[in-house]
Amino acid sequence: MSLSIQELEKTVAELTAPGKGILAADESDGTIAKRFKGVNVASTEETRRDYRELLFSTPGLGDFISGVILFEETLKQKTAAGVPLPQLLTAQGMVPGIKVDKGTMPLPGFPEEKVTQGLDGLAQRLSEYKQLGARFAKWRAVIAIGAGLPTPQAIAANAHALARYAAICQEQGLVPIVEPEVLMDGDHTLATCARVTEEVLHAVFHALHQQRVALECMLLKPSMVVPGSACLKQVTPQQVAQATLTCLRRTVPAAVPGINFLSGGQSEAAATANLNAMNANAERQPWVLSFSYGRALQAPVLKAWRGEAANKIIAQQALYQRARLNSAARQGKYTAAMENE
Ligand code: 13P
Repeated sequence: MSLSIQELEKTVAELTAPGKGILAADESDGTIAKRFKGVNVASTEETRRDYRELLFSTPGLGDFISGVILFEETLKQKTAAGVPLPQLLTAQGMVPGIKVDKGTMPLPGFPEEKVTQGLDGLAQRLSEYKQLGARFAKWRAVIAIGAGLPTPQAIAANAHALARYAAICQEQGLVPIVEPEVLMDGDHTLATCARVTEEVLHAVFHALHQQRVALECMLLKPSMVVPGSACLKQVTPQQVAQATLTCLRRTVPAAVPGINFLSGGQSEAAATANLNAMNANAERQPWVLSFSYGRALQAPVLKAWRGEAANKIIAQQALYQRARLNSAARQGKYTAAMENE
């Protein structure tokens, strides 16, 4: 076995450790500004650093969080006391990761569809990120559901880019998290989301195969199969779990070690309850089913923090609580009553 495969397998083992999931704290400048605006905080290099230092220094967070995805700026920042943030994560028992895509751009000729950019120069960037402490990476592709959408061309373009990214990551010794997000925007039904997600995952795994990606050394970060956020017919966690697992069983090879869902705009409680329903399912799945949540872990933290240093402890308690509940859900041991403990 080559050295780099061993390195990738070690990272995968740490990221999929029992009871743990991933914290997505890789909001781009535009996205973090939007989140901060919601709680009346100006987004500056310093406020972003303060906020992320608060998140990562939460006592005991490493009991529930195996890895944290960072934005490039954060990878290079230091705590107020001068410790590089990736080093703070490692000291807390968490693996630093990095978002490496350069966001989406309109797909020419396909109105309303997007393709993710960032492949040019990726190998060089990854080698720099690795020196700064990153051991895994993330690339997000976005698929919208609508009238006549998604087109097969948009699915293929995004699957190809995801697979090229994953191959480059593995070559550089970073574990790729492959994130094809089917958006919740719209009034489509659960069945429509299931049909589209199945198409997308088939295309993604076909492309991964074509690019010779080692499935054992990657993680999948999909959206759950849920009705559109404007769909009048909402469903139970059991229905989400059944539709999502059916889709994953049909499309994701058993060689993939872990599936870490994104939250995609679900409420905190829904994201936790849905993950729990998947893990409470009596049938055994071939993959670890865990989380890689951004908003569903951070929304209550932002609300508690509001940019005030004096709120640090309650903000950290909010993160600890959400991480603990999602850890329980990852083991199928969550109950709604635990929300009030
Ligand atoms: P959400 O859980 O807020 O969807 O964020 C996860 C993520 O990393 C999106 O790219």
